[in-house]
Amino acid sequence: MKEIIKKIKSKKTLDRLDDTFVESFLNIFLKKNSKLNKKYLDGELKKKDIRIIVKSVRNNLNRFYGQFWTSDKLKLESHRSTKERLGIYDKLYSFIFSITCRPKTILDLACGLNPLTYKNIGNDIYFIAVELTEYDCGKIKEYFERENIKGEVIRADLRTYNTFPSADLCFMFKILDSLGGNNNLIAENLIRSVKAKYIVASFSTKNVKGKKMNYPKRGWFEIMLRRIGYRFVKFDTNNEVFYIIKKL
Ligand SMILES: C[S@@+](CC[C@H](N)C(=O)[O-])C[C@H]1O[C@@H](n2cnc3c(N)ncnc32)[C@H](O)[C@@H]1O
Repeated sequence: MKEIIKKIKSKKTLDRLDDTFVESFLNIFLKKNSKLNKKYLDGELKKKDIRIIVKSVRNNLNRFYGQFWTSDKLKLESHRSTKERLGIYDKLYSFIFSITCRPKTILDLACGLNPLTYKNIGNDIYFIAVELTEYDCGKIKEYFERENIKGEVIRADLRTYNTFPSADLCFMFKILDSLGGNNNLIAENLIRSVKAKYIVASFSTKNVKGKKMNYPKRGWFEIMLRRIGYRFVKFDTNNEVFYIIKKL
């Protein structure tokens, strides 16, 4: 197992991932491929088998992680999502706060490099940043310390972890359909369990190549919100659709 994980992580875009996360993707792949799983358990994997496993698991990890982080530098351009929003952050936050009021505490789930926009929000907010890997959390901590930002960084895999500190406002930007597994169930669980007055969730309306998606509105998400009884308002930017959801 260790050797295969090492091989998977030898790709630059995936080398920051924690072994446990890679292992969970490897196990999901093997569970779905019983022949390879049997060979693996019997210690009979051939070089060709290992190549197939490494390639497939890497593809999945790239979909959920690798494709977003484009460089090591602490700047907004180093993450695809924050790069896309360059130039609209001030407008975006002031529109959100016109509905939610200015929060004292923000919880940002699977935050990417969004914490780097702290200055666009204001200096008096307590910012709780949540990301997946030890490495990325370390970089965000470094930024908080350097810039004297009031806040904390929590490392968490949102597929299994959902006990976060309470906050006035919770950001779930572009994550609820990119966690893998049973997305809709994980999304509902997060929306229900987060302790916040408002949640702002967003979804991409363009694919990775920058083309408009055919069905960019998330019907399943709106149906779910109505079923569990949360009111929301919706607005669009060039690349994203946002939902401001009232919880309390
Ligand atoms: C589309 S990006 C969105 C980033 C940020 N929310 C934004 O919109 O600027 C998805 C983020 O989720 C993180 N991620 C992927 N799988 C995760 C998981 N299982 N638990 C926590 N974070 C995860 C990735 O590292 C990536 O930064």
